[in-house]
Amino acid sequence: MLRRHDKAAHEALAWTLLSEAHAVHLCATLPDGQPLVRPLHAVIHDGAVYFHGAHHGEKNALVGRPAVVSTHKVYADIPSHWRHPERACPATTLYESAMVHGTVEDVTDDDEKAAMLARLMTRYQPEGGYAPIDTRNPLYTKAIREVRVLRVRGERVVAKRELFGGKTPGLRRKVAEALWRRGLPTDAEAAMAVLTAAPLDPWPERFQGPGVRFVPAPTAEQATAAAGLLRDAYWNQRTDESVLARAQRATPAWVVAIDADERVVATARALGDGHKFAHLADVMVAAEHRGSGLGTALIDFLLDHPAVRHCPRIDLLTRDAQGFYARMGFEAVGERTLMRHWRGSSHADRRAG
Ligand SMILES: CC(C)(COP(=O)(O)OP(=O)(O)OC[C@H]1O[C@@H](n2cnc3c(N)ncnc32)[C@H](O)[C@@H]1OP(=O)(O)O)[C@@H](O)C(=O)NCCC(=O)NCCS
Repeated sequence: MLRRHDKAAHEALAWTLLSEAHAVHLCATLPDGQPLVRPLHAVIHDGAVYFHGAHHGEKNALVGRPAVVSTHKVYADIPSHWRHPERACPATTLYESAMVHGTVEDVTDDDEKAAMLARLMTRYQPEGGYAPIDTRNPLYTKAIREVRVLRVRGERVVAKRELFGGKTPGLRRKVAEALWRRGLPTDAEAAMAVLTAAPLDPWPERFQGPGVRFVPAPTAEQATAAAGLLRDAYWNQRTDESVLARAQRATPAWVVAIDADERVVATARALGDGHKFAHLADVMVAAEHRGSGLGTALIDFLLDHPAVRHCPRIDLLTRDAQGFYARMGFEAVGERTLMRHWRGSSHADRRAG
């Protein structure tokens, strides 16, 4: 649980959850006392939640009334038997939630309305393809006047979190391990959330390699770092670093190793169907970490990934690391002909490739 006195951390978590949620819930009462709950598209700006509505709509009647805007993120359901052999009560859910208490206010300044509508557009149609929203653009002058933009400033901002950060190290290790073994689509991320919710020493063996910790659900920043490790590999010469980062993130079975300073020092991923076969790709250990067993431990960890462990067949292509994989039981398969087409490349590029 978050500590009660850690107000800044609470508020930061709440705003992050609200900014990342696809929709939030607005909860209030109408002037006649009837409760109202509405899912909303919203943007967060300067300590307030902004959303839009029509001048005649129900939300309109909320101006000046107290309201709560809330959202939550579920990581995983934890069955009771992971914590107790018989009692049903220890079943729980790992989650984070946010609640912003305030008053519904009408935004009347046209420029502020336009700015918030522009933010909503950027958020919910990031592909663009429209003229920027601006009060001076005749396309929008009337629309901005006619739409209502409402705001709830965060007078009280509350976050709740249950990621087992306050539980014993033994239970946290056990639950992270059980999540990894169960292997539902969000379980790897949930295992990582449990492991990092509070300091944990020692880190469970399953998530450790020589001098490193394995991260089963890496972040966007770690994708950028992994792309930096991979960009000079011979097989990535024609792939941009930004594409490499996106490719790692798009792969459900992607793991990295981080050192004591949290630097990404190794990365590996596997593509496949989760049942029949998987193909290892982009395996890289930073030069200064090679030769200490990290590559082997990382491949072991990846082969145990929930999206890989049920696949009886694991393929890979390598130009010069056959010896490394042979030690793990991989065998060369005949004279394979690899065929390749580089999309969008010119004839000259193709000949060079
Ligand atoms: C291949 C690579 C991932 C191995 O990582 P590593 O951390 O050095 O591997 P380990 O320390 O676990 O090595 C295990 C054994 O494999 C051997 N080995 C390592 N790389 C090898 C290679 N390219 N060819 C043959 N054997 C290799 C090691 O010597 C070691 O043998 P030992 O136990 O007798 O000492 C790493 O060298 C690397 O990132 N290389 C550049 C990128 C690359 O080639 N990736 C694979 C492409 S498919």
